[in-house]
Amino acid sequence: MQLNKQHNIKLAKDLSLRKRAETFIPGGMWGHMSVKKLPHGYPQFFSKAKDARIWDLDGNCYIDFMCGYGPNLLGYSNAEVDHAVNEQRKKIDLGNGPSALVVDLAEKIITIVDSADWALFAKNGTDATTTCLTISRAATGKKKILVARGSYHGSAPWCTPVATGVVEEDTSNLIFFEYNDNASLEAAVQDADSDLAGIILTAFRHDVRRDQDLPKKAFLKKAREICDKKNAVLILDDVRAGFRLNKSGSWFDFGVKPDLTAFSKAIGNGYPLSAVVGVDKLRQAASEIYVTGSFWCNATSMAASLKTLSIIEEIDVVGHISFLGNKLRAGIDQIANNLGVGISQSGPPQMPLILFKDDKDFSRGKKFVQYLLGRGIYFHPWHNMFLSLAHTAKDVDITLDAVEFAMKKISLEIK
Ligand SMILES: Cc1ncc(COP(=O)(O)O)c(C=O)c1O
Repeated sequence: MQLNKQHNIKLAKDLSLRKRAETFIPGGMWGHMSVKKLPHGYPQFFSKAKDARIWDLDGNCYIDFMCGYGPNLLGYSNAEVDHAVNEQRKKIDLGNGPSALVVDLAEKIITIVDSADWALFAKNGTDATTTCLTISRAATGKKKILVARGSYHGSAPWCTPVATGVVEEDTSNLIFFEYNDNASLEAAVQDADSDLAGIILTAFRHDVRRDQDLPKKAFLKKAREICDKKNAVLILDDVRAGFRLNKSGSWFDFGVKPDLTAFSKAIGNGYPLSAVVGVDKLRQAASEIYVTGSFWCNATSMAASLKTLSIIEEIDVVGHISFLGNKLRAGIDQIANNLGVGISQSGPPQMPLILFKDDKDFSRGKKFVQYLLGRGIYFHPWHNMFLSLAHTAKDVDITLDAVEFAMKKISLEIK
């Protein structure tokens, strides 16, 4: 498989489609998949993806470290998952009610995830996090939800990071605090007074454009203690990290059990699905709320998820991506040290983030990823990246060669 050797790869077809898109799509593209904020050189459109490789419209091939922003845990077009989907499609996908797979999948997820006594399914991560808030309020009869400042929980009006079109009432029952800061959390609890319905937390601090932080055990324990004391619900938003840190749930190793967990992204290896799982005490509330969507019960997505979860039960996916993530991290550290380039690598190695020191405007980071694109490596300058089961040690070696090339360029530019 030929990767690009040249900087300034050609994107003629991509650029021409972007022009057409400007006519038919507001702004040419919306949301996180718009490349408008990324440095020049990123393709907007893709034509093909397999395992850890992705091809743009112009035929340039990249070793991909975004996995479609997370979902492709086993790699693109995993043969077993695709087969399960295709077989299911021949029977039924969307009917007047769900297929039997909905029960199989709920049972499967309950056997895998530690804090799951029941499960319900939706489509996007935002559906799942929003449903968690609704269940929390239904169960407690209270309104206030505590949210860590800067955490991403989706794009509904209560949680979108862009305030355009959002009205005060959408967020008036949220109280913000700092992730990993007990005093700040306790101050928010005081503000909520007797109206605390729940605390929502991402698995670790993976806000964009800053170093990532794993949760402090004492912080998670404090959140658990507060929820127990105040009859509030502890919600784990595991949409991004789910099944990459620990298949039993991302806080399993911390010994802290959430009341509700939102999953999506990796749960169906790229097929659209999300899940809310919860503990028994919230079963009643979850059965009383009304949440649904025309496509929430598609059987093909459930088939994809059942196969994905079966694979992660059999294969140590977390072990594989941790091993490769550590190899990548160690190699990048060594290259940067040798060249005297200041960088920081943070968060779990299987979800890497590389930022440059003294790079407030991300100019170094932007150049770095541009050089890498030119060498057939797709990195992101400020969003955490993702490894998959399809990445290999060879892919990491090829990537490290490209990183050395890019860092050398950066080091010459710094001098
Ligand atoms: C932690 C977290 N929660 C929720 C969401 C929202 O998921 P979706 O984009 O599928 O609605 C995301 C998406 O990136 C996320 O990273």
